Amino acid sequence: MAGKRASGEGSRKSEIRNQKSEVRSQKSEVRSQKKEEKRSLNGTGRKQGMKCIVVVGAQWGDEGKGKVVDYLAASFDYIARYAGGHNAGHTVIFNGHRFILQLIPCGILRPGRHAVIGPGVVVDPAALVGELDTLHKAGIEVAGRLHISNRAHLIFPYHRQMDKAAEAARGSGKIGTTARGIGPAYEDKMARHGLRVCDLMDAELFRQKLARVVQEKDAICRATYGVPLDAAGHAEEYLTLGVRIREFVCDTAELLNGALSEGKPVLVEGAQGTMLDIDHGTYPYVTSSSATAGGACTGLGIPPTHIAGVVGVTKAYTTRVGSGPFPTEMPDLEAKEVRDRGNEYGAVTGRPRRCGWLDLFMLRYAVMLNGISSLVVTKLDVFDTQREIQVCVGYRYKGAVLREMPAEIEILEQVKPEYRTLPGWCSSTFGVRDAAALPQAARDYLAFISDQLGVEIGMISTGPERDATIVPAESQLARWL
Ligand code: GDP
Ligand code: IMO
Ligand code: MG
Repeated sequence: MAGKRASGEGSRKSEIRNQKSEVRSQKSEVRSQKKEEKRSLNGTGRKQGMKCIVVVGAQWGDEGKGKVVDYLAASFDYIARYAGGHNAGHTVIFNGHRFILQLIPCGILRPGRHAVIGPGVVVDPAALVGELDTLHKAGIEVAGRLHISNRAHLIFPYHRQMDKAAEAARGSGKIGTTARGIGPAYEDKMARHGLRVCDLMDAELFRQKLARVVQEKDAICRATYGVPLDAAGHAEEYLTLGVRIREFVCDTAELLNGALSEGKPVLVEGAQGTMLDIDHGTYPYVTSSSATAGGACTGLGIPPTHIAGVVGVTKAYTTRVGSGPFPTEMPDLEAKEVRDRGNEYGAVTGRPRRCGWLDLFMLRYAVMLNGISSLVVTKLDVFDTQREIQVCVGYRYKGAVLREMPAEIEILEQVKPEYRTLPGWCSSTFGVRDAAALPQAARDYLAFISDQLGVEIGMISTGPERDATIVPAESQLARWL
């Protein structure tokens, strides 16, 4: 028995030893799994495959960001706007349907994708509800897919009133704003008496806050523009709109960072363009937000360490709406031709866009400011009948070559662009979907742009439809899809 007991104890001991060694090997397995996971984090603390790509306008807006974002959105789960408001007009055309989105990111048009309006955006709830109605009529349901930041600032009718009054007061020096109240809403945000989306969620507090602001603004409006502030009925109207959007309101920084940490890809949709940026653009002929890539981080609460790449969008030429310097602007007749061929009329205001040649000096500045890693060239087809194409490769001021983009508007108004003349292709590129099928002169034009800027051309757009798009297989951009 003793022997049996002894042998029983021995086997229990060896069993315990086995169990311990199993635990040790399990622990070492967990350790090596963790090591493997760490290796796959790419040294950035992110899961492999996770991506956050920012799309920015490289010129003065209207570069075709809507079309580009819509195309890319097929490969992303979340599409987020970080700046501006309904001054933007992003056109998306597919299967013959045309949508112009002003506040809601274009990703909403892709089934199953989430569209996010970040805290850096200024929201006019009436415009937003109008856009929701348009989408609903088109059979696009947004429930569970649209997310609006509780921290986004609100645009009120008095912001529009002040925008118009300020423009009138500027006389011939007017900026040519979209009259949507964007500037005055951002002014209030910075002056720290703006109201935010979260304020709409508590009716009594909202009434109190709005009454305080209206009293203050009325005094300013009377003193500055000699007119009283028209704010009658705004509180109740906005509370009604608040009820409509309540279901979409959340902390979007939590949402996006949560998505990114789960490895879900996020596409950031820029509005306006680099030269309209409040800090880096042709001030004061700019908008009032940070349109450049840096604005994506502040306007969404996505850390810079999470941005994997920046896509810059440029037309094959240049356009600008509103006033301000435009060194490569074409003379009237030539501008009219391009305007007609490119249908260059504002998506929001219908204003004719000023047209000019491609400006590589300006694009170099845009590449630097945004860290553009891949460039998209849109509207190549608009040059299909152009016999010769001018491209600005540098600026001279009073005979001297400029090395930097001048800060002074007075200098920028007088710079002389230095042009290179390239041959046109005089054949149709409309709807071409394969780079090899482009005429040689068109390929040379693109190669010239890429060489001059030191950036790849990751996408070429040959028509407004979704499918009229070329993504060279070897490009960095293709690897993000
Ligand atoms: P966004 O503000 O940057 O989104 O640009 P807009 O939508 O305001 O303006 C771009 C215009 O060009 C829209 O009417 C588009 O449908 C159109 N568009 C975009 N890409 C192309 C293209 O490659 N060829 C042509 N012909 N039109 C294009
Ligand atoms: P998307 O996103 C082109 C211009 C206006 C004006 C200046 C200031 O469609 O590219 P604002 O109303 O913002 O105070 O006007 O900025 N502007 C745009 N131009 N595209 C835009 O947006 C623009 N958003 C503002 O024309 O010159
Ligand atoms: Mg536009």
